[in-house]
Amino acid sequence: MAIIEDLRALQGEVLSATSGATTLDELDAVRIAYLGKKGSLTAVLRGLAGLSAEERPEVGRVSNEVRRLLEAALAERYVTLEAVARQRRIAADAVDVTLPGRSRPQGHQHVLHQVVDEIVEIFAGLGYTIGEGPEVELDYYNFTALNHPPDHPARALQDTFYVRDLSGDRAVVEGESDVLLRTHTSPVQVHVMESQKPPIYVLAPGKVYRRDVADPSHLPQFTQIEGLVVDEGITMGDLKGTLEHFVREMFGPDRRVRLRPHFFPFTEPSAEVDVSCGICGGSGCRSCSGEGWLEILGCGMVDPNVFRHVGIDPERYTGFAFGMGAERIAGLKYGVPDLRLFIEGDVRFLHQL
Ligand code: DAH
Repeated sequence: MAIIEDLRALQGEVLSATSGATTLDELDAVRIAYLGKKGSLTAVLRGLAGLSAEERPEVGRVSNEVRRLLEAALAERYVTLEAVARQRRIAADAVDVTLPGRSRPQGHQHVLHQVVDEIVEIFAGLGYTIGEGPEVELDYYNFTALNHPPDHPARALQDTFYVRDLSGDRAVVEGESDVLLRTHTSPVQVHVMESQKPPIYVLAPGKVYRRDVADPSHLPQFTQIEGLVVDEGITMGDLKGTLEHFVREMFGPDRRVRLRPHFFPFTEPSAEVDVSCGICGGSGCRSCSGEGWLEILGCGMVDPNVFRHVGIDPERYTGFAFGMGAERIAGLKYGVPDLRLFIEGDVRFLHQL
C-alpha cells in the first residue's frame, strides 16, 4: 500500500532529522515540520479518509506505531539536547577560582602629604608638638614681630599677596593693607610664643603664598614646615645636631649637613643648610650642578628682638628656628626635577610615588 510506504519513508526522514538536530530550537523545528498541525505526518494521515474499510485498520496500526516511535525519538533527543544546553549554560556561568584576581585601582595619599607626615613623625620622635596659625595673616605676625624693618624688600607687593580691605573696592597698594596671605610659616612662631611659655618644641607645617609665577623651582602656593625651640641653654650646636638627625632620618645615614652663613631678619646668626648630594656623595655631579651640596632649609638662633615682641626674656632663654619647603624636600627625596608636578594632579606621576 502506497500510504504505508509513505509512512515508513517519513519515519526514516524524521528519525534522521531528529538525530541531526543539535539544538533544542532545531529539534522543535523538526517536531513542528513533521508532527505539527500542518506537518507532513498529519498530511499523510489525512489520506486515511480515502481508504477502504479493509485497508483502514492496517494503516491505522502502522500510523500509530510510526507516531509513537517518532514521539519517543523526539523525546529522547530532547533529553539529550537539554542536558547539552544545561552543560553549556553552566560552563558559561562558571567562575574559574584558579584565575588570578583582577585588582581594582586604589588611591593613596599624595606624595606631599606623605613627606609632611614623615617629617612630622621625625620631630614627634624628638618630643615636638604641632603649632598652628592662620593662612590669612596680619602684617604684624608675618613681618613686624619677626623683626622685618619697615622698608624690608620682602614686604614689597611683588612677593606678597595682600588681602583687599573689604570696606573699599580699591586694589590694595603696598602698605595700605595689613592683611595678607602669609608668605612663610614663621609667623606661627609668634603665635606659639604668645600662647605658650618655654620650654617650647614645636613644628608647624602649613600652606604659604607668594606672588611668584610657577616654574620648575617656584610655586605661588606651597608648603612650609617651621620648627621652633625655646628653652634655657639652647645653642647652635643643638640646632646643628637636630638638623643632622632630621637629614639622616629623611634622606639616609650617609648624608652630611653643612651650614652656610646667611641672613634672615628673625634669626641671628642665620644659616642656610645644605645636604650632601645623594647621587655623587659630595664630589659634584649634574644633579647638584657640580656643587656636591643641595640647599634644603633656612635656620638660625631666634633673634632677641623676636623674643621681646612676645615677652620672652632673652637673657634667660635662647632658641633656634628653621623653615623648609616640603615640595623641595619631596623633590630631593624622590628626584623630581619640577615642583609643578606636585600640584598638577597628573596620576601618571602620582602613581609612581
Ligand atoms: N621663613 C623663611 C623663608 O620662608 C625660612 C626660615 C629661615 C625659617 C630661617 C626660619 C628660619 O624659621 O630660622 O624663607
